[in-house]
Amino acid sequence: MSSAVVSIPEKAFEVRLAEHADAGLSAANFDVVEVVVAEPGAGEVLVQVDYVPVAAAFKDLMKVHCQLPVPPWKPGDLVGVGGVGTVVASNSPDLAVGDLVQSFKGWSEYWTGPAAQFVKLDGGAFPSPVYYLSQGPTAYYGMATVARAGEGDVVFVSGAAGGVGSLAGQIAKARGATKVIGSAGSPEKVAYLVEELGFDAAFDYHDGPVLDRLREHAPEGINVFFDNVGGEQFEAAVQAAAPHARFALCGALSTQAANGEAVLPRFDLMTAITRHLEIRPFATYHTPDQIQDWSVHFSQWLAEGRFVYPHTIVEGGIQAAPGVLLDLLAGKYRGSVSVRVGEPA
Ligand SMILES: NC(=O)c1ccc[n+]([C@@H]2O[C@H](COP(=O)([O-])OP(=O)(O)OC[C@H]3O[C@@H](n4cnc5c(N)ncnc54)[C@H](OP(=O)(O)O)[C@@H]3O)[C@@H](O)[C@H]2O)c1
Repeated sequence: MSSAVVSIPEKAFEVRLAEHADAGLSAANFDVVEVVVAEPGAGEVLVQVDYVPVAAAFKDLMKVHCQLPVPPWKPGDLVGVGGVGTVVASNSPDLAVGDLVQSFKGWSEYWTGPAAQFVKLDGGAFPSPVYYLSQGPTAYYGMATVARAGEGDVVFVSGAAGGVGSLAGQIAKARGATKVIGSAGSPEKVAYLVEELGFDAAFDYHDGPVLDRLREHAPEGINVFFDNVGGEQFEAAVQAAAPHARFALCGALSTQAANGEAVLPRFDLMTAITRHLEIRPFATYHTPDQIQDWSVHFSQWLAEGRFVYPHTIVEGGIQAAPGVLLDLLAGKYRGSVSVRVGEPA
């Protein structure tokens, strides 16, 4: 076995689901436990985790009644989906000590498993490994394939300062949209969208009826709606839609973030019919094709200097991850959110 020069501790921390979150999410839903770091067997590697992502959808995966198209977690399961790390011991010819890898395992300080469970990454492709944790495949598929946003379009993105929305708006701009409008939950986020991400206009959805804001910013109507939120924002977008507008329905944050019963949007069917609205909910699985489509455009747009990767890195190690999810749902962060676990600052 080859091992890194770094010392590997006997024990490390990981985060498990303590109880389902159907009744609401709090710190009590998580168990932070210390476990023995498993030595890699034949064909296996030991990976020190560098960063793990935190996303709104994790709350759904913590519920018995999870509506996502993947199995929810059970009490005792690791919380979290994926992350990036560095191989620190290897019993496999396929991965060497020092390789940067991506995994779909959960919130832990170390991962041990067959080399085939890890994807080797190019450590020099992006300024930081967290670029591999973007929600780009979803944002790109939704904006390019489902909504087909392009030249001449007036585009509205709800939840625009989040991991998906902050990329979706920039993708619409990069594809030539005439005007991109974003909604977010604070004046700081509104300024961020316009001043740093290149949105043409943005508004705080707490600032009066959403329909009034859309009529101000898009008097001719919106041609594309990329919806991360649902609720009032979906209802308003139907009313503000131009004929033949395309809706890509990606998320329902107003329902997902609520603790307890959330108000579902009303659907004005007659308006949708008479304006020939094309309303397409979609779920992405980050297939190799979707990842490839996104990666090619992401690298190119970054290199051309007309795209940024909005992200927040939170310190505090794996023990901080549960609190980061609670803060994320409360609107504390911008862009894709990751917790730094092992990689030095
Ligand atoms: N369809 C798919 O294949 C797919 C794949 C991945 C993710 N998704 C979905 O896409 C959506 C966006 O994901 P994300 O990771 O980018 O989430 P996110 O934006 O990082 O989620 C956190 C944000 O939700 C917002 N929020 C909280 N309560 C809200 C409310 N009542 N109304 C409106 N916004 C509220 C807050 O932003 P503000 O401060 O701006 O309120 C907060 O910062 C989620 O619904 C997720 O489940 C779908």
